[in-house]
Amino acid sequence: MKDYKNKTAFVTGAASGIGYALCEALLNKGANVMMADVDAQGLEKALAKLGGTSNHLASTLCDVRDGAAVMDAATLTQKTFGKVHIVMNNAGVGLAGRSGEIDLTDWRWIVDINLMGVVHGVEAFTPLIKLHDEGGYIVNTASMAGHMTTEYMPPYHATKYAVVGYSESIAPELSKYNIGVSCLCPTWVKSNIANSGNSKPSTNNIDSDTFSALKHTAELVKNGMDASRLADLTLAMMAQGRMHIFNDSEARPLIDERAKMLGADYDAALAWLADNK
Ligand SMILES: NC(=O)c1ccc[n+]([C@@H]2O[C@H](COP(=O)([O-])OP(=O)(O)OC[C@H]3O[C@@H](n4cnc5c(N)ncnc54)[C@H](O)[C@@H]3O)[C@@H](O)[C@H]2O)c1
Repeated sequence: MKDYKNKTAFVTGAASGIGYALCEALLNKGANVMMADVDAQGLEKALAKLGGTSNHLASTLCDVRDGAAVMDAATLTQKTFGKVHIVMNNAGVGLAGRSGEIDLTDWRWIVDINLMGVVHGVEAFTPLIKLHDEGGYIVNTASMAGHMTTEYMPPYHATKYAVVGYSESIAPELSKYNIGVSCLCPTWVKSNIANSGNSKPSTNNIDSDTFSALKHTAELVKNGMDASRLADLTLAMMAQGRMHIFNDSEARPLIDERAKMLGADYDAALAWLADNK
């Protein structure tokens, strides 16, 4: 996607951080933008910061866990701007903890937002993008945490690996309709993500190891890339039709390390099979 004039985008998690920056970048490129978020107050403030409701900008309260609500938001976007071309399934939360100690309601909460929220967006918007035959674009926000793992973050990694796999899987099929797919996989970006775990449903306290890991993560997010730079990078990589969008030179070797580790495991199994015919 290169030309945003007369194009309409729907962005979730638009009240804060990366989602807000994506909305701003899209508006600057001339797109119409529907901002969606579950945080009513945050959304109101974010909308005002971008100039308030206009012919090019609107907002809707939407919890991405609720498939019907995302469908309603899709209908509203089409009704407001006539057509819809771009969906950015970006809303997400963090959840950490030690295996065996993570409340299952918290597990379901993060899966419902980070994975099902993305699925709801794709299912609701794809038919509307196909309708006008002008093509479109889907950006699903995963993370570098969808390509490598760290300790004490199993729910977050599980959902982000799922979003990477899901995005890779839908891309070839949607390309036949001129709908591009990218998976946004950033490392640290300045945002409020470090506080998002506070909204988890259970009141379970976290252990000291998880607490230290989260403290470290919060520091890295605080010193991360500006969300506006990531948004500009995202649009540039969409113009190139890139499947994965990365942002951090320091994390680059981790991709090769993972490929090496997978190759070693594969070769070990092949060696055993060859020796045990
Ligand atoms: N900040 C980083 O370092 C980083 C790195 C990699 C990936 N990400 C991913 O980027 C995405 C955006 O996060 P961010 O860093 O901007 O954090 P953020 O907390 O600043 O923004 C997330 C937004 O999502 C909204 N949201 C949460 N639950 C929702 C729901 N159920 N329905 C609708 N909206 C909901 C929040 O209200 C918030 O406005 C997330 O998917 C996150 O996992 C962030």
